[in-house]
Amino acid sequence: MMQSIVRRFAAANGTGLGLATGNGRFLIPALEAGLDVQGIDNSPAMLEICQRHATESGLDVMLHEGDMAPLALAHRFHAIVCPAGSFSLITDEDAALHALTSYREHLESIGRLSITLSTEGPDDTTHFGWRMRRTGTNRVSGNTFVVDEATGKDVIPQVTLTYNRVETYDPAGHLLGTEIRKVRTRWWHRDEFVAALRDTGFADFKLLGDEFGWVALAIRQWAALTTRSSLGAKPGHACPRWPHGRGKLTAVSVFRPQ
Ligand SMILES: C[S@@+](CC[C@H](N)C(=O)[O-])C[C@H]1O[C@@H](n2cnc3c(N)ncnc32)[C@H](O)[C@@H]1O
Repeated sequence: MMQSIVRRFAAANGTGLGLATGNGRFLIPALEAGLDVQGIDNSPAMLEICQRHATESGLDVMLHEGDMAPLALAHRFHAIVCPAGSFSLITDEDAALHALTSYREHLESIGRLSITLSTEGPDDTTHFGWRMRRTGTNRVSGNTFVVDEATGKDVIPQVTLTYNRVETYDPAGHLLGTEIRKVRTRWWHRDEFVAALRDTGFADFKLLGDEFGWVALAIRQWAALTTRSSLGAKPGHACPRWPHGRGKLTAVSVFRPQ
């Protein structure tokens, strides 16, 4: 996945922007590959970690503290890349469409958009039962983190609610603390997402991958736009061109301990 994200930045042949850049997991390898990329995240703490990783690797990086929904930067980019399902953190449908419109407005004339979403099958949630997600041991402190998760349907249609329970143990195995994090992520059908891209001014769509993990690629369209409202959908109602309504596909993104 890492290499394909770097390739997507490279294909832009210009300046790239990584949305929800987090700790720089994707941005740092792109910088190391000599690419001109910037990052945006709304968490100062995550940006600080990203900056530290860049500094430790001897790299200069331009990071923006700000929202990706919508994007409001004073720059245009040749590529905007949203990896690892972070777009699904935008759970409100209208906010997601507004965000896509803002990405179009931040792209150069042949600018490329790349958004990775993943899909859960019908049995993939735990119906709010706990399952182990991952563990890890900090090399410096020796503390071990155990992350369990419980997922299920949120009250908002097409949104998954994930609880992450993070337990921290000292090297002797004593529990130091427990933290619960709650994350909501929005499900998208593949053709629903393509319709959203079309309606917000993108063209030349490609969907790579299968329904359990796919990347939507598109370029900025310069012709006149057909908006959802002009297609007859009212705010808060399903667009008639989106055949499946609400339902099956889920995009999941889970916060990781840094
Ligand atoms: C799960 S992390 C993923 C980070 C990175 N994409 C990765 O895969 O390593 C999600 C990131 O999205 C950021 N984030 C969430 N909502 C955001 C928003 N509306 N605008 C900008 N960043 C956001 C969080 O601060 C966090 O750093």
